[in-house]
Amino acid sequence: MPAVSNRALHLGTENAFVVLAEVNARIRAGHDVISFCIGQPDFPTPGNIQDAAVAAIRGGKHGYTPSAGIDELRQAIAADIRRTRGLEVEPSDVVVGAGAKPFIGYSVLSTTDYGAGDEVIYPNPGFPIYDSQIRVNGAVPVPISLRESRQFNFDPNELADRITPKTKLLILNSPQNPTGGIIPRAEMEAIAEILRRHEQVWVFADEIYGRLVYEGEFVSIATLPGMLERTIISDGCSKTWAMTGWRLGFVANRKLAPYLTTWITNTESCASQISQWAAVEALNGPQTEAKRMRDIFLQRRDLIVKLLNGVPGVTCQSPGGAFYAWPNVTEACRMIGAADSEEFRKRLLSEAGVAVLADIHFGPRVQGEGQHIRFSYAASTEAIEKGIGRMADFVRRNTR
Ligand SMILES: Cc1ncc(COP(=O)(O)O)c(C=O)c1O
Repeated sequence: MPAVSNRALHLGTENAFVVLAEVNARIRAGHDVISFCIGQPDFPTPGNIQDAAVAAIRGGKHGYTPSAGIDELRQAIAADIRRTRGLEVEPSDVVVGAGAKPFIGYSVLSTTDYGAGDEVIYPNPGFPIYDSQIRVNGAVPVPISLRESRQFNFDPNELADRITPKTKLLILNSPQNPTGGIIPRAEMEAIAEILRRHEQVWVFADEIYGRLVYEGEFVSIATLPGMLERTIISDGCSKTWAMTGWRLGFVANRKLAPYLTTWITNTESCASQISQWAAVEALNGPQTEAKRMRDIFLQRRDLIVKLLNGVPGVTCQSPGGAFYAWPNVTEACRMIGAADSEEFRKRLLSEAGVAVLADIHFGPRVQGEGQHIRFSYAASTEAIEKGIGRMADFVRRNTR
């Protein structure tokens, strides 16, 4: 039997999918489960966007496109980046892909060399694909801890300590998955100040939740002096317009655009043309539905945070963006005799029928930060009320 490569054997994944399989198995076995696992809007894609996709199919616009995307979409994205961030970005700086996710790997591949000891700094807890793409592409992962006491930001001094001559890339994510935290302007300026002392460092600014901000302002690091040239601005349609399955993301960076384009030529060739026309409509068309979804997320955020803070042994900060809540369950674990957040999660699922993810699904637990679980509140008001009610009963019932 031929062997599987070491690289494939050790490839990381999104553990959310593993938990999801567990949840689905329980549902198939007839259990009643309320799930807060999935990081995708629970709304249909707005009708005008659906219509644009149908028109593309009917109009014969369904063949390959240039790898970087159709001109109309690259223009719409450049205009959108100008509108939302006030940045001068040309359509030729923009590359369109099958979701924002592939650009994480392409950016690591375009800024580091395999096995050369090139380091990439990224947030922990964080989107697990950062870690897996850094490792599989032969770079050195350098996690930086997010702290609850800093509203889930890292300490810029820790960043300064971690940068070495080998640091090639810094990944930032604001608003953040899994904590919902936002990097405020003052922190972003402190980060930029440090980076100015290290001109070899690129920035991958994961701004996929940039339009789901409920408090404070969204700040792109690319808007700070000297940062645009070195920042890969990453955004997409998945979260803002409820288009996760359409697979449409995009990045902007003048110097790297040709290389990111060539990676796409080597892999998926181009994003689906149908989704590209849908994205043109998403960006250029009316924003009423996107605003409505955002307003509903805000209401749900307020509801879930209030309810979670009423659960014995649980405290939850109010996240500034995205659609995740990241409650601290350290005391609740102690109360019910759970060794850690993962045992808490498993028991919450099997004994209370509530599915969430645990902190360890987003990287190694940060020492001294306690135990956390993640709720995606891309779920109905009824599900939130019922789910958190079940969780409160579960903790009360099991308190020793
Ligand atoms: C932080 C972060 N970046 C990127 C992505 C990927 O988005 P897309 O669906 O556009 O590939 C996600 C999706 O969950 C995410 O949470």
